[in-house]
Amino acid sequence: MTEQPAAEKKPRLLVLISGGGSNLQSFIDACGNGSLQAQLVAVISNRAGVKGLDRAAAAGIPNIVVDHRAFDSRDGFDQSLGDIIESFAPDLVVLAGFMRILTPEFVNRFLGKLINIHPSLLPAYPGLHTHQRAIDAGDKQAGATVHFVTPELDGGPSVLQAQVPVLPDDSSDTLAQRVLGFEHSIYPTAVQWFCEGRLRMENGVALLDGQALPENGVIFSDGAEQ
Ligand code: GRF
Repeated sequence: MTEQPAAEKKPRLLVLISGGGSNLQSFIDACGNGSLQAQLVAVISNRAGVKGLDRAAAAGIPNIVVDHRAFDSRDGFDQSLGDIIESFAPDLVVLAGFMRILTPEFVNRFLGKLINIHPSLLPAYPGLHTHQRAIDAGDKQAGATVHFVTPELDGGPSVLQAQVPVLPDDSSDTLAQRVLGFEHSIYPTAVQWFCEGRLRMENGVALLDGQALPENGVIFSDGAEQ
């Protein structure tokens, strides 16, 4: 039997986006510099014309638009999206700013192989407008959390969380930019753990090296995991 080239043995990542794709870019860069040992097999966006698609094209990654507006129902969209994803046989589906609520059927189809980043210190502030909600509540810290996806919106077990200070003059935009910088570190790191076989979800619990992670996941602050 012929030995496969090394690149083809690397875990296969498929990235779902809806917009700018700066997190996607962090995966492209991490695969390029070897800190993430994976191959990006496709990028799918539910919106045409977004910058993330240009980033994928520039990196030579197959990129596809599956426009949710072309479907009569959420179920129909999720079914087609799932079929296209399966055609790429990914080991992990990475949600990177994919702004769609997923049906339980879709989530269960890929359970344990779906990961997301959410811009809050989960379990605080699932849903939208997370940075404004943190500012309005007078929180001293905001951040982002990488978590496995389960049918509950932003409710799956946390893997890795960046805690970032809220500054007195922050607007939701300045806070979002600061948090985004940390997202670009923690997301490829968590995905590398998965690719190394160190990270998995079992019975709704995130396990790292066989140990159940705490509610917030591993905490990453000022560049160091704690
Ligand atoms: C990020 O803040 C991410 O946490 C959230 O959507 C944003 C996506 O940004 N889910 P980008 O498209 O990766 O730049």
